Amino acid sequence: MQTLPMLGQTHGTRSATTCHLKCDSACAHPVLNTSDAPSFREVATTQLNRRTLLAGAGALALSTAVPTLVGPEVAAAAPAAAAAGKAVRPLAFTPIAAVADTVDALTVPKGYQWDTILRWGDPLFHSSPAFRPSTPDAEAQELQFGYNNDYLDIIVTDRRGRRALLVCNHEYTNRAIMFPPTADDAEESEVLRTLMAAHGMSVVELSRRGRGRPWHYVRGGRHNRRITANTVFRLTGPAAGSDLVRTAADPTGTRVKGTFGNCSGGTTPWGTVLSGEENFNGYFRADPTAPGAKRYGLTDTPSVYGWEAIDPRFDARNADYVNEPHRFGYVVEVDPTNPTSTPRKHTAMGRLKHEGANIQVGADGTVAAYMGDDERFDYLYKFVARRKYRPGGSAAARRHNLKLLTEGDLYVARFSGSQKPGHDNLGHGAWIPLTLDGRSTVPGFTLEQVLVHTRLAADVVRPTPMDRCEDVQPNPKTGKVYVACTNNDRRGVGDNPAPDAANPRPANKNGHVIEITEHGGDPGATSFRWDLFLVCGDEDQAGTYFGGWTGSVAPISCPDNLAFDSVGNLWISTDGQPSSIGKNDGLFRVPLEGSERGHLVQFLAVPVEAETCGPVIHDRDGSVFVAVQHPGEDGSWEEQHSYFPDYVAAGARATKGDWQGPRPSVVQVTRS
Ligand code: FEO
Ligand code: CA
Ligand code: CA
Repeated sequence: MQTLPMLGQTHGTRSATTCHLKCDSACAHPVLNTSDAPSFREVATTQLNRRTLLAGAGALALSTAVPTLVGPEVAAAAPAAAAAGKAVRPLAFTPIAAVADTVDALTVPKGYQWDTILRWGDPLFHSSPAFRPSTPDAEAQELQFGYNNDYLDIIVTDRRGRRALLVCNHEYTNRAIMFPPTADDAEESEVLRTLMAAHGMSVVELSRRGRGRPWHYVRGGRHNRRITANTVFRLTGPAAGSDLVRTAADPTGTRVKGTFGNCSGGTTPWGTVLSGEENFNGYFRADPTAPGAKRYGLTDTPSVYGWEAIDPRFDARNADYVNEPHRFGYVVEVDPTNPTSTPRKHTAMGRLKHEGANIQVGADGTVAAYMGDDERFDYLYKFVARRKYRPGGSAAARRHNLKLLTEGDLYVARFSGSQKPGHDNLGHGAWIPLTLDGRSTVPGFTLEQVLVHTRLAADVVRPTPMDRCEDVQPNPKTGKVYVACTNNDRRGVGDNPAPDAANPRPANKNGHVIEITEHGGDPGATSFRWDLFLVCGDEDQAGTYFGGWTGSVAPISCPDNLAFDSVGNLWISTDGQPSSIGKNDGLFRVPLEGSERGHLVQFLAVPVEAETCGPVIHDRDGSVFVAVQHPGEDGSWEEQHSYFPDYVAAGARATKGDWQGPRPSVVQVTRS
């Protein structure tokens, strides 16, 4: 087996296998952003510690509390519940304790149970063959649920709450634990084709007997759909059709085959699903001297997945396909209500390692999408659509809203701040334009160049290099925007940027969460104020901070995906706790407003070597959903590390459709 470059150096991140497969071991390579970005020197570099932050936190909590926004039921329930050590309604639970990183179980609170809705390989269509990992079959996989589910939503589609569409993406694959070793190249080619089919996205109909009851997937549902690494997408926006995105196979520069590396995402108010193409570089072999290649981590080494062996477009050294990598790294938009629609990639939203995108609509209909570029020292972005949102469900409104992400202005964030304890807000920030009114605002860059080489263009305007922005999500109750910065082990190390106000810790292995308030509450604003909401870790560690809460909290590290419940509490799922604090990754809830602001508790923990993705909180139904990604990631075909979720006992005969090995799955947690 190939030696993994991350072995022995994954502290504060994740397992070597995950690093290799998910992001081409980005952390083992030199930092990609070597631009002379002095912004970090222009802001105060006060080192944080829990005590100094707490000194300022009382004033902060009082000045920012918006009690009416959390609703009377919760506002009334919170103090009594807190006194009893219980959570607030409507999803009351007794928090679980952190779970050791050796436990191969999904742990939920007492009084709750979990069930799988969909597992890797589950048949989605009447014609789908049965799941049989011992014999890889690309055609079968195209008709089955994909691997490594990450972004997830459950969109209820009828008034009685009995029908829903499950939409998720399938970020990457792990050949070593999915399929047995092969005997020859022909067999291995079939494995590669099967892996391509296991990437992408799924849309699957769900049904249930009534509100609060468990969901089941509908095999053969009319909306069921698989999108793979070979599904045709339409490129939209100003860079579509440009010289930068044309290839021999697509001289129009508008029709791209496939999506992969899809990480988080967002569901739009007009009912579509966005998904971020993140670590696309690991799928290509490329000339590292090509424009922009180095800045995006493209290298002239065999790709992580080896697809260039069966499809020449994955070798961008090939003159016919030098632009193929320029056709990935976008926000994609899928209409789950129309299974024959062509999914799209929006160049107007820029090309980066998109974690995801989440929409906020202002009072006047202004539409903004918040987006993180998940790489050490890369940036936070915002897209503001040219057109306004049109409410209502008419066909005309829908046609209008489907155009919203094809034209608009792209901004990148610069943070500044003093971090003086006692200030109402720690800092100010600016959204610096990269494109405005259909023109580039970056000297030396055309509009198309800004949108394809977005990182290079952003470097010019000196944004703040961040500690790996993951989900960036507006709170539907308050409009404040939350940014999960998962970790950055190189912060303040060597010649790399020092800690700054918005990224306060050197060698940041536990991550933090920033809270942004747009000027005037307007998503289209060009300035904002911000606070640090969480500085993660074990509460006893120096430098941690939990929104001003002074009581006990759950240990948390490497925040990744964010969600909100119906009363505006923030839910955070993690990716990397085993290597940073020795605990299985988990799902946490934390109030943002009122007297319990910062009181973080843990709801569940995923099995060994898994990551908690998705989370979807339907608290009024008493349901929480998570996408359990890469369980047993460090195992092998011969020696699996996890048996989630089927848990077929050793030596026992698997019942139909089950398997003695790990299967990434979508799980629902309900009251038992
Ligand atoms: Fe795929 Fe940014 O995590
Ligand atoms: Ca993520
Ligand atoms: Ca992740």
